[in-house]
Amino acid sequence: MKKHLANIFDPKSGNTVMFAFDHGYFMGSTAGLERLDIVIPKLLPYVDCLMGTRGALRTCVPADNRKAIALRVSSGSSMLNEDLSHEVVAVDIEDSIRMNADCMAVQTFIGADGQLSSIDNLSRVINAGFRYSIPTLGVVAVGKDMERTDRFFKLATRIVAEMGVQLVKTYYCDNFEEIVAACPVPIVVAGGKKLPEREALNLAYKSIQGGARGLDMGRNIFQSDHSVEMVQAIRKIVHEGYTDQQAWEFFEDLTH
Ligand code: R5P
Repeated sequence: MKKHLANIFDPKSGNTVMFAFDHGYFMGSTAGLERLDIVIPKLLPYVDCLMGTRGALRTCVPADNRKAIALRVSSGSSMLNEDLSHEVVAVDIEDSIRMNADCMAVQTFIGADGQLSSIDNLSRVINAGFRYSIPTLGVVAVGKDMERTDRFFKLATRIVAEMGVQLVKTYYCDNFEEIVAACPVPIVVAGGKKLPEREALNLAYKSIQGGARGLDMGRNIFQSDHSVEMVQAIRKIVHEGYTDQQAWEFFEDLTH
């Protein structure tokens, strides 16, 4: 279990840059991810962990890849559904082992219609993970009608942590330090919808300052016109203690 976590979190900084490209599991061919086979290899050198589905990892990540793998194992809804909160566990533990997954990601829908089934999914994956020493990443989902307050994230991250996951993915919010302090396992922060690069760097900086142990960022990297430069700037914040201003200047130097 520790070996897998050490693959995900850089031994020097203790933090991680996860690159999330699992969006296709419910959004189909997302803008910027039409050609996974081109996007992934160019960003690969600058990330610590690849977060994707079995299909994307099997087809578009070279088998000799040495970066950590966060394998999305829950699935079951699509953009065409009104309610996205009903999923199943779609990947057997044997295949997670075969794919050298360093953690298995399960979406949890606290407060939504599918809460019970998503907690059931999470429990099954955690139990299997303990049998074979593979960490579980509990993903806090936010539905269309769900609140995105610090009160909600404090509740949801804590529930997911208490289920026994080894790491949690959530969103940045007000009083983020309190969410981190009340969560007994490391938190990584999702990027969310595409922002101007400077604002995305600010989000990354505030997350790390607030105690996040990394970013699990997708659209703010792969939808940038300068995705390679963007991921390098994020890296500076996550691993080298850059402020958002320093990272922005670094980004500008690379792109001009
Ligand atoms: C949510 O679980 C999605 O599948 C993404 O992995 C996550 O939201 C991170 O990507 P983004 O930074 O684009 O929000």
